[in-house]
Amino acid sequence: MSEAKRLAGEKAIEYVEDGMIVGVGTGSTVAFFIDALGRIRHRIAGAVSSSEQSTARLKQHGIEVLDLNNTGPLSLYVDGADECDPHKRLIKGGGAALTREKIIAEASERFVCIVDPSKQVPVLGRFPLPIEVIPMARSLVAREIVARTGGQPVWRDGVVTDNGNWVLDVHNLAIVDPVGLERELNQIPGVVSVGLFARRPADVVIVGGEPPKVF
Ligand code: A5P
Repeated sequence: MSEAKRLAGEKAIEYVEDGMIVGVGTGSTVAFFIDALGRIRHRIAGAVSSSEQSTARLKQHGIEVLDLNNTGPLSLYVDGADECDPHKRLIKGGGAALTREKIIAEASERFVCIVDPSKQVPVLGRFPLPIEVIPMARSLVAREIVARTGGQPVWRDGVVTDNGNWVLDVHNLAIVDPVGLERELNQIPGVVSVGLFARRPADVVIVGGEPPKVF
């Protein structure tokens, strides 16, 4: 799989234009993208990072990491996903970086998602849906999720997000209405963000392979 991830990450470089500030996601596929970005670092103006992990890798390559508050809207965001459906709707957050990822996706004109073939599904929900919660609301949110969706939330014990919050992974969801579920879960007090990227899906998906598939 790591070869497919590398091919997807390197293909995404074709979307980078001279002088851009590039939004950069998180994960093992994005790591290949960052390495490729490092090779053309003199052509870009910098990056906005979605995690401490990606920030460290960007800096190792000598790429300047900028604050989203100072950049304005971004032209391009490149990130991986845990699941992707044919409508380019995604589940993300397996690496617990979902909130910053969602912010950058929203701030970006074009979201290019890079995945290996194992991430493609007809219906989202096989991968447990990550939800970032304010710590004091963990049990409340878990009860609400059971009542509203029938899914089984499991606390990702020991994981603290870059924002100081906790993550619930919701198992056994068949997500037939991703936009509706995203809206519903976002309304529960204590939910910081939901790892469903349906209201703002990807614009382009690159599936790593020889050759990569783009849709
Ligand atoms: C991070 O929180 C996730 O949203 C990642 O985008 C996702 O987990 C990527 O997975 P890979 O490590 O397989 O690229």
